[in-house]
Amino acid sequence: NWSMDDFIDQQIQKIRDTVGDKKVLLGLSGGVDSSVVGVLLHKAIGTQLTSIFVDHGLLRKNEADQVMDSLEGKFGLNIIKVDAQKRFLDKLAGVTDPERKRKIIGNEFIQVFNDEATKLDGIDFLAQGTLYTDVIESGTSTAQTIKSHHNVGGLPEDMQFKLIEPLRTLFKDEVRELGEKLGMPHDLVWRQPFPGPGLGIRVIGEVTEDKLQIVRDSDWILRDEIAKNGLDEKIWQYFTVLPGIRSVGVMGDGRTYDYTIGIRAVTSIDGMTADFAQIPWDVLQKISVRIVNEVDHVNRVVYDITSKPPATIEWE
Ligand code: XMP
Repeated sequence: NWSMDDFIDQQIQKIRDTVGDKKVLLGLSGGVDSSVVGVLLHKAIGTQLTSIFVDHGLLRKNEADQVMDSLEGKFGLNIIKVDAQKRFLDKLAGVTDPERKRKIIGNEFIQVFNDEATKLDGIDFLAQGTLYTDVIESGTSTAQTIKSHHNVGGLPEDMQFKLIEPLRTLFKDEVRELGEKLGMPHDLVWRQPFPGPGLGIRVIGEVTEDKLQIVRDSDWILRDEIAKNGLDEKIWQYFTVLPGIRSVGVMGDGRTYDYTIGIRAVTSIDGMTADFAQIPWDVLQKISVRIVNEVDHVNRVVYDITSKPPATIEWE
């Protein structure tokens, strides 16, 4: 007889009992889990919640604005937005190894978060969007472990918060249902999975602002066409990658020597295995034409037709 309405009421009561008149800090990533935690906590304790949203510059086009418009604008959360694009790009300069890129992004994320958190006084609690699956995977969850999707391990010793994890009994689908019950926008709640390191692992090799721009713009077109053609809820994940190779093309009377964009789109149940999505040719054609026409420095578009295994979903 479990209902989501009961769950919401119980959690709100529980949060209020736990927090009392103390203050809570939340790290927003732009993803579903932390956003739902934010809205739930705000409902429970209002201005006792402060959120920090680190914009690492590796989000998709308009994503940071959407998060702010929705969570701050519509739901009234108090959000400190940190524009840290430059910090991340500086740290990533010259780095090509995928795992090193992940570590750098994860560590920098924690650094920026901590820099902001230490400016705040009198915070007792740290809220996290830990799900049931995270609990199973990591065994336990303590103040020393931050959600694994940022691929990082830990807060400094002197920052000892008590944890609040209102989603720790829920599966992803239930979190989405909870989000909808809380009145959150459908497209935010049903957003496709997006890796913590973001577009940083979709620019293959060294990450530069120019390359990020190409991935961001081509990804935007892909998402637009997928949505327009009603495919967004049929495909598990879809995005573009910039392999970094250039090839010869022809435009007007001249030859070009420009970048190739790869389209990756897969169907999957849980991301562990995946098949490439069989997007209709006419939709792919439209996407290809638009990407080449609308994104500077792209003269070729290829479609990834490998499944997982043997390929992974991401290219890095
Ligand atoms: P792969 O590429 O391993 O991806 O087939 C499986 C799922 O995991 C996501 N992914 C990540 N998520 N940090 C994350 O939070 C990461 O470093 C990372 N790498 C891959 C990927 O988008 C897919 O949903």
